[in-house]
Amino acid sequence: MLQEPERSADPIRVHEGYIAPLFSLPLKLPATAWHGHIPFLFVLFRNLKPARYVDLGVHWGASLIAAASASQAYDLETELWGIDTWAGDIHTQAYEGDEMYADLRSYLDRNFSGVHLLRSTFDHAREGFDGRPVDLLHIDGLHTYEAVKHDFDTWLPVMSERGVVLFHDTMERDHGFGVWRLWEELKHEFPSLEFVHSHGLGVLFVGAKSLDDPFLKRLVEDPARFESYRATVSRIAGLLPFRCAHLHFEAELQSFVANGDDPEEIVQRYKAHMEPAAKPLLSRTGESRGLAARVRRWLKGRSRGATRRPDDQGEPPGK
Ligand SMILES: C[S@@+](CC[C@H](N)C(=O)[O-])C[C@H]1O[C@@H](n2cnc3c(N)ncnc32)[C@H](O)[C@@H]1O
Repeated sequence: MLQEPERSADPIRVHEGYIAPLFSLPLKLPATAWHGHIPFLFVLFRNLKPARYVDLGVHWGASLIAAASASQAYDLETELWGIDTWAGDIHTQAYEGDEMYADLRSYLDRNFSGVHLLRSTFDHAREGFDGRPVDLLHIDGLHTYEAVKHDFDTWLPVMSERGVVLFHDTMERDHGFGVWRLWEELKHEFPSLEFVHSHGLGVLFVGAKSLDDPFLKRLVEDPARFESYRATVSRIAGLLPFRCAHLHFEAELQSFVANGDDPEEIVQRYKAHMEPAAKPLLSRTGESRGLAARVRRWLKGRSRGATRRPDDQGEPPGK
């Protein structure tokens, strides 16, 4: 049996556990400033297998949908909680969230199980978590120093011994954002990692057993190793919006085709908005199959009476 440091450095284990999950995609990507952290969220779900996840600040649902997608992808049956007033704050600005909340509720019900939405303040919701330990907490509400400190102090007592807390916006210093100040304090109190892309994400290992994962422990203990991993995460994360948009076009195309509609409009939109930016990037992940070209071939085939669908070209990805 390999000793712990050797196991955590085994390239196949590292690839399976900490690189491959970075290429995972959420089922849907709503508008968000958080998308760059979705790849590492999949890594955390894959390896920490949280039994209970809490999202403080949901808005359109990007981080919560990503968490639900990760739980589903790894068959974890994580209990997921999304808490928000859906009224906004001084940083998001106040908004009228009735429809947003209703749409998200309906989307989650249709696509996932085990996702609970609480329309309430974080403080009010916190009362219901006594005796219900949280393994993974994402703090993304109001971003002033005082508010984030209050959220952290209020929720820390319910963190489990495996507990990890995520803080968004550790890199933002303007407009009264104060997460960076709290982060300066906390990173000396607990083991931590910090990503600097997508406005910054602090990962704080607060539970006594939260660093049992040997690879994450090595990242925390070896700054040079983390620096290199962080660069990898950031580069893969940069592809995510394009990859999601590509999938969205694919799905739209499928539904047009299923309805017997002419997908030419989608082809044109794809060529105008997606192909120039996405194609060079997606060729790196083997996803630049050229939707427009495939649709044209399909249309040609249809006019000859062929029955093959656009996703059935019998060709490997990347062509
Ligand atoms: C930055 S947004 C959340 C973004 C989201 N996590 C994402 O993935 O895009 C912050 C949200 O926190 C909510 N919020 C701020 N303070 C809150 C509080 N004390 N209680 C409940 N909701 C709050 C706001 O209504 C807003 O929708």
